Amino acid sequence: MTVTIVGSQLGDEGKGGVVDLYGDAADVVVRYQGGDNAGHTVVEGDEEYKLSLVPSGAVRDKVGVLGNGCVVNPETLFDEMDALRERGLDPDVRLARRAHVIFPYHRALDGIEEEAKSDSDAEVGTTGRGIGPTYEDKVGRRGVRVGDLLDPDVLREKLEYVVPQKRALAEEVYGVETGEEFDVDALYEQYREYGERLAEEDMTVDAGDFLGDRIDSGKNVMFEGAQGTVIDIDHGNYPYVTSSNPTAGGAATGTGVSPGVVGGGEVIGIVKAYLTRVGSGPLPTELGGVAGDTPGYDEQGEGENEELAEYIREEGGEYGTVTGRPRRVGWLDVPMLRHAARTNGFTGLAVNHVDVLAGLDEVKVGHSYDLDGEELFTMPATTERWGRCEPNLRSFDGWEDVDWDAVAEQGYDAIPANARRYLDYVSDQLDTDVYAVGVGPGREQTVVLEDPFE
Ligand code: GDP
Ligand code: IMO
Ligand code: MG
Repeated sequence: MTVTIVGSQLGDEGKGGVVDLYGDAADVVVRYQGGDNAGHTVVEGDEEYKLSLVPSGAVRDKVGVLGNGCVVNPETLFDEMDALRERGLDPDVRLARRAHVIFPYHRALDGIEEEAKSDSDAEVGTTGRGIGPTYEDKVGRRGVRVGDLLDPDVLREKLEYVVPQKRALAEEVYGVETGEEFDVDALYEQYREYGERLAEEDMTVDAGDFLGDRIDSGKNVMFEGAQGTVIDIDHGNYPYVTSSNPTAGGAATGTGVSPGVVGGGEVIGIVKAYLTRVGSGPLPTELGGVAGDTPGYDEQGEGENEELAEYIREEGGEYGTVTGRPRRVGWLDVPMLRHAARTNGFTGLAVNHVDVLAGLDEVKVGHSYDLDGEELFTMPATTERWGRCEPNLRSFDGWEDVDWDAVAEQGYDAIPANARRYLDYVSDQLDTDVYAVGVGPGREQTVVLEDPFE
């Protein structure tokens, strides 16, 4: 069977931790979209792993697959695998031959376009990994795929077509000087070598066949979503999104496994008990703001909500896994979660970071929005309208800080009563059972109610 792990908010909900939690029963762990913009944390005992490309199952020695929906920077992949080997792991990673390849010119163009947009305060705040430009080339039918790296003649031909276009774009449209990252010969040499290593280590697969064969023989497959529903290119707050489909449908199109198989398995929505966002775009329940990212917010303000945001950021360690940027913080946004539940068809929820809110007198949620005098229960489709939504807040009595390790051991009833009320509310609103409650970053610091593979 399959279990799909999907971020229900804006990324960083703790997906890596949940993949690790349930990963023991999986035979293969598959990323279906995104690239090294992701930063997934797994904490096993005293060891913390931050993974950008290698699927989180590597910590448990599971075969990892990067599906055709991913964009792969071979340099970061090999660096990450080498770093994991140095730490004593033995990552077994297979790449879909249909996945697209990130080149240095994609990264350069990511930065160039963000810079150009910043003149009008329109930058997205991307991770700078070249994700958007690579997906542009994929959709524009001029991309280079992993399979092309294995055939030097094909690689050369594709680079000779595309690189001069990219160089002209950088130089003539944006007026930027270019270097080696736009040089066909240099790129060809470097990427041909990556192709050789991929071939030597027998790392490439037809992902659909590889996974289909395993599913047919009764193996368990876990799909590890990156990013989150509200930064999905189709279902998120466009244009403040990433360029792929983190939502559950992406698990089918991004791997070659049929929608029936994905939908016939479990789809677990990962929910952070509050909200964080890295980068630009609206956030109706935001507390305070982060200069440079929160629209219209230039310097650090003061006040009760700012202090609260700062408190939650520090308690939760809310700094970007990839970029180290401070994350914007807000109350849980329930219209956002209703949108996510409908788009993804969650069969279960994992609610993380319940420990981080402990000790507050009061915990609020945005229950609905007010927009031009109308009450909305889900997100409007345009970002302009979403940005004008005022949250109707609901207040919950806070819960005390307790020995969360003991709670994780004792089970659900040991969770403070007020936190259980909060969890019941979320579960009721989404009409979905809570499968797991995160009470700390470690594998053991989770209250498990259901194992989706059982
Ligand atoms: P991902 O991108 O969704 O995998 O999430 P990240 O790894 O970027 O960010 C989640 C952070 O929160 C990581 O540092 C995790 O170790 C940590 N974390 C996950 N679940 C919990 C939890 O329940 N409580 C606390 N305090 N931290 C958690
Ligand atoms: P994980 O998998 C949070 C955000 C960026 C930016 C926007 C577009 O760790 O949850 P991109 O580089 O993808 O073109 O940037 O998306 N973003 C993430 N935010 N978690 C992530 O991944 C993210 N990956 C991209 O901050 O706003
Ligand atoms: Mg992350």
